[in-house]
This record gives sequence, structure tokens and C-alpha cells, in this order.
Amino acid sequence: MKFYVTTPIYYVNDRPHIGHVYTTTIADIAARFHRLCGDEVFFLTGTDEHAAKVVDSAAEHGMTPQQWADQNAQAFQETFAKLGITNDDFIRTSQPRHKEKAQQYMAELLKTGDVYLGEYEGWYDAGQEEYLPENKAKEYEFKSPINGKPLVRKREKNYFFRLSQYSDALLKLLEERPGFVQPDVRRKEVANRIREGLNDIPISRTSEHNWGIRVPGDEAHVIYVWIDALFNYLSAVDNPERRHFWPADVHLIAKDILWFHAVIWPTMLMALKRELPRQVYAHSFWISEGQKMSKSLGNFVDLEKIDRYVADFGLDALRYFLARHGPLGINDSDFADARFNDVYNAELADKMGNLVNRTLTMIQRYRNGIVPQPKDEALRAVAEKMVSAYREGMGCLDFVGALEALWDFVVRSNQYVEESAPWKLAKDPANARQLDGVLYNLAESARLISVLVTPFMPTIAQQIRTQLGVADKLQVFSDEIAWGRLAAGTKIGLVAPLFPKRT
Ligand code: MSP
Repeated sequence: MKFYVTTPIYYVNDRPHIGHVYTTTIADIAARFHRLCGDEVFFLTGTDEHAAKVVDSAAEHGMTPQQWADQNAQAFQETFAKLGITNDDFIRTSQPRHKEKAQQYMAELLKTGDVYLGEYEGWYDAGQEEYLPENKAKEYEFKSPINGKPLVRKREKNYFFRLSQYSDALLKLLEERPGFVQPDVRRKEVANRIREGLNDIPISRTSEHNWGIRVPGDEAHVIYVWIDALFNYLSAVDNPERRHFWPADVHLIAKDILWFHAVIWPTMLMALKRELPRQVYAHSFWISEGQKMSKSLGNFVDLEKIDRYVADFGLDALRYFLARHGPLGINDSDFADARFNDVYNAELADKMGNLVNRTLTMIQRYRNGIVPQPKDEALRAVAEKMVSAYREGMGCLDFVGALEALWDFVVRSNQYVEESAPWKLAKDPANARQLDGVLYNLAESARLISVLVTPFMPTIAQQIRTQLGVADKLQVFSDEIAWGRLAAGTKIGLVAPLFPKRT
């Protein structure tokens, strides 16, 4: 099976922050899980570079827009590399490979009869590069709902796309394929807004600057930056080697840009007669220390702060926190320092770290570091039930559910240690076989946990496997999850705490 996952392409004007890191990390976890399952994965992220504000910022910094974009795109690439993100490609909309394809798609659109030249006047949110409908503009008191800056009344001659003709097709799509927009609440929001009526939308802008992709055959216009950006998902794989990846399996985004992905993108694809992506998944937002992140409040979880967390707790702990306590569903999540600390200590150090550590220490102490023979399969049924819940969660981006199932199993395994009290069994040689069996079950649980945490905490997973003496490369998921795979007689490695306690 193939699996094609994308993140939004980020505005090249921004500095990478926790929001960008979050979506990209979630996509990374999905990609790693599918690779583990043996799927052929293509994981795409990148930068959106043709926004008008790039021209202004470049000028402020005495650079050309391209120089400015090069510098900032590099910051994103470096950040993702540093954070161990395993994207297969990084697309930049200023790259010739993208520009060529975008022009080709635009030329195709111009021929469809769905596009006409018209004039537009409306309320423009310059920060977001989008027009707001009259009622929305009013609702937000003519200020940007995103950055609070005043909306601008703007009039432009543009190429328009007949979005208004697509209401029925879109509503049918959302009804027939409820998985197309997830979570459900978001799909319903989109459907309601479509029912309010769709206006035709501009897909070009008069080119005031020489920055953007020209509309083929009309020098006076560039492709509207949002349309240019959406094309990236297709342009990146629109070549003989990668064509089989289309349609994308999931476009991972946040709720702020759902409209573009759930309404505008599929209609573009319908007009272009291309297959639609299988899913658009819109997660919610991180806030910070209980408040919306904002530069003026100084509570932005920026790169410097992210670096500090990685230095203090380790990259894997950060990934775990993002996946387990992040805004994957419909609620926003709070990135709070105290909360991070608690999670690290309670869930990582006390539960998982402790289970693995005590298991290995006992094997060291009571069995000279050799994994003993199994006796019964006391944990097998719970393990199998957990694996199936985990699998289900991983398959539908319910990483919170998958991790909950896994952590229940960790808790159950810790209880099993208490109930079977190996330290008591060890006192009487008559219990030797019983003790073997308990230690084997625990070691096998640790092995299983190492497999299942791999997409979330790849380094920790490898550490567990090294300590357990099974450091060789993981085989395919379906084999690895079979209970009893750990060979008796395995010599364990050096035992060390996975998550040293923090105060
Ligand atoms: N360039 C457009 C996207 C074009 S995609 C064809 C854009 N860029 S952006 O830099 O503003 O990125 C928006 C995305 O960043 C969100 O959809 C989300 O993935 C991520 N996040 C930005 N802030 C966020 C939070 N506070 N919390 C979680 N994710 C957020 O829009």
C-alpha cells in the first residue's frame, strides 16, 4: 500500500513555531507508523512563498524576495531536520518544478469554462491573503479574525473561478464520503457554510510586484497565492516516479485553513478532473499558558523555547507531549510548562520508564541478564486487545486513543509486577519457574512497547531495544506485534533509566 501525507506549506515569512512543529510532527508520526507497516510512504512538507508580505519584508531587510524566501525556507528545513522529521521532500513554491506545474494547472483551468475575467471588491485580510465575506467581515468588526489588524477595502480585476456552481457537488461529496473532512464537527461546519451559499472566488491577482507565478497568457496577473499554494500537493508528485502517490491519503492541517482545503481545493481538482484527496484532517490549536499565543503577550512557543524543551527533556518527550496532549481533535490544547513537567514525570518517568527499568533490573539481578523461558501468557490477552485498539487509533489519526490504549497496558503491566512480586518469588528456589515466567512476560511487554512507541519516540524505542538486547532493525509491524517473539536466552544490554526524573 502507498501512503501520501502532507502538511500545510508554511508561510515563509514566519519563523517556525510550535504550531508548525506540531502539524509536521503529527504527520511524521503517521509517516513513521505507515513505514513500520511496510507501506510505501511519501511525506511532504514545505513553504508557501508568494505572499505579498514577502515582498515587503524582503525590502525591509534589504533583500530580494527570493533571497528572503531562501533564508527563511532554510530555517524551516533546518528546524525540521533538527527535530528528526522524516519528510521525503520539501517543496518550495518558488521552485521551477512547482512553478511549471502550477502554470500548467492554471492553463487547464482557464480552458474549463469554470473561469472568467471579472472585477472584485471586498474586505481583504492582508495577513491571511484572503477576502472575507461581507457577513464575516461585519461579525469581526472589520478586523482580521487571525491577527486583529483592520481589514482593507479592496477592488481588483481578477480571474474568477465559478465556485458558486459547486455547492451541490460539494455537499454530495461530504455526505457520501464522511471521511473526507475530519473530525466530524469540522465537516458539519463546512457543510453548513456551504449551505449558506458559495460565491465565485478570485484565483489571480493583478501583479503589482514581480513576485508570484504568472497566469499563462496574461502578463498582468499572477496566480492568487492560495491557489498557487494548494497546487503544491499535486505538483510535488506530478511526475512519472511519483504519480502513483496521488491522491493524497491525508492533508493534515489546522482548522484555520479548512475552508481552502475542504472547499476550494476539491473543486479545483474537480475542474481539473483529478482524483480528490482521501481526507482533509483539521486539528485544533495550541494555546500557551492558558492564552492564545501572541507576540505581544510574549507567550509564543517559538524555536528558542522548543530548543530548551528538547535540551531539558529530550526530543522524544516533546514528541510524546505533542501527540498525547495536543489539539488533534476538536479542542484546543494548552502548552504549559507545569503541564509538560507533570506529563514527563507521571507518564514517561513513573509509568513507562519505571516499567522498563524495573523489568530489566530484575532480569539482571535474578537471571544474570538472560531473558528466561516463558511459562504462562498472563499478559497476552491484554496485550492483544491493546494492540488492536492502538492499531485502530493509528489508522485514523486518533493518536491520543492509540497512546491511551498503550498507557493502559503500561499501567496493567506495572500492576502485574506488584501482583506477582518477583522479589518475593526470588527468595525461594522452588518458585524459579514461576519467576522465569513473570520476568519473560515483562520483558516481552517491554519489547512490545518498544515497537508501539516507535512512531512517537523513535530514539527511546531504540534505547529500549538496545537495553533489551534486541537492537537489530525492526521487522514489519504485523510480525513484531506477535506475542512471544522475544527469544528466551536473549542477553540484555546495559540498563539505564529512559527518563531521568526532573524537578
Ligand atoms: N501558507 C498557508 C498554508 C497553505 S497550505 C496549501 C498557511 N501557512 S501558516 O504558516 O500560517 O501555517 C498554518 C498552519 O500552521 C496551520 O494550519 C497549522 O497546521 C499550523 N499552526 C499554526 N499555528 C498553530 C497553532 N497555534 N496550533 C496548532 N497548529 C497551528 O496558512
